[in-house]
Amino acid sequence: MESRDPIVEKVYQTYLDLVGKGKPVRDPREAVRILEDRYKLIVDERVVALTFAAFMNGRPVLFEGPPGTGKTEIGEAILELWSGRKPLVLPCSDNYDEYKVIGDFHPLMAMKKGFNEESFTPRTILAAMILDTGLLVDEIRRSNEEFQNLLLDISDKRRVIVPELRRVFRARGSGFQIIFTSNPEDIAQNDLSDAFLRRVVRVKFTYPPREVEARIIRLRSGDGPSLSRSVESLILEVINELRRTSITHKPGTAEAVLWARMAKSIARLNGRSVVSLEDLAEAALSVLAKRIEDEETVLKVLRGAASLEAY
Ligand SMILES: Nc1ncnc2c1ncn2[C@@H]1O[C@H](COP(=O)(O)OP(=O)(O)OP(=O)(O)O)[C@@H](O)[C@H]1O
Ligand SMILES: [Mg+2]
Repeated sequence: MESRDPIVEKVYQTYLDLVGKGKPVRDPREAVRILEDRYKLIVDERVVALTFAAFMNGRPVLFEGPPGTGKTEIGEAILELWSGRKPLVLPCSDNYDEYKVIGDFHPLMAMKKGFNEESFTPRTILAAMILDTGLLVDEIRRSNEEFQNLLLDISDKRRVIVPELRRVFRARGSGFQIIFTSNPEDIAQNDLSDAFLRRVVRVKFTYPPREVEARIIRLRSGDGPSLSRSVESLILEVINELRRTSITHKPGTAEAVLWARMAKSIARLNGRSVVSLEDLAEAALSVLAKRIEDEETVLKVLRGAASLEAY
């Protein structure tokens, strides 16, 4: 029997259960349907089509937009549809180097037996390439330029070099694709280099239109006490007003969903079958006000919006 590559063997042992195996979906319209049914994600067909078109041209994609607009979750789901396997995720930090993301050597074993396949542990990027699955590089602006260049080189050439092993690992299929996420408004982070921006296909994320956000809230807020139409439009009104006026904290769709879910849970704990204005206000203070000084703003906006609604 042919003996398998020891590095491939290690990758299979560690990651195969994690990534699973399904059927790739490469038709944007079908993908949009599955994203809603299976992942509870409402995604514009344009986003899926642009991403797939970039993959067909061997280009990585940059999902850029404000916090809580679904960049990470949608990125993971689209990568999974494209390759049929779950993607591997790399949350960025400032101190990454190739040993942390491609593979490293066990120090004691390397001292005893040398820098060889036995002492080598494959890490995320090499694993994604060997498994022919996607790679989600989350919050790319939190990484340094050297790391960004390393990723571009791997993505351009679709191969990884491990000099100590004198080996080159090449992507074998089209499943290995990269999506980066970035939030340009996040403070304390780095700029993306020109070289980086030239190579990636940028897909801009924005807060969804009102009726789409309403659908997302319905899809995501779960069972239990119901949200009346007027409570639902109150949620949207407050969220949008805070996006317009708040300087410190603009709520994303993620927070709109969490607010609705928290209000439902509070209503249930209070023995109610319908979410009341009080349940909504209680949840608002904990979900939308991230600092004590935000509380007053949140309450003011909520009171203002509620007075416009039929209460
Ligand atoms: N289009 C969408 N469809 C369904 N849910 C959405 C959508 N956009 C946002 N959400 C909600 O937001 C959550 C996912 O937000 P996610 O963390 O992916 O956003 P993000 O843009 O990556 O935010 P951050 O910049 O903070 O990392 C979901 O769990 C869901 O509740
Ligand atoms: Mg994210």
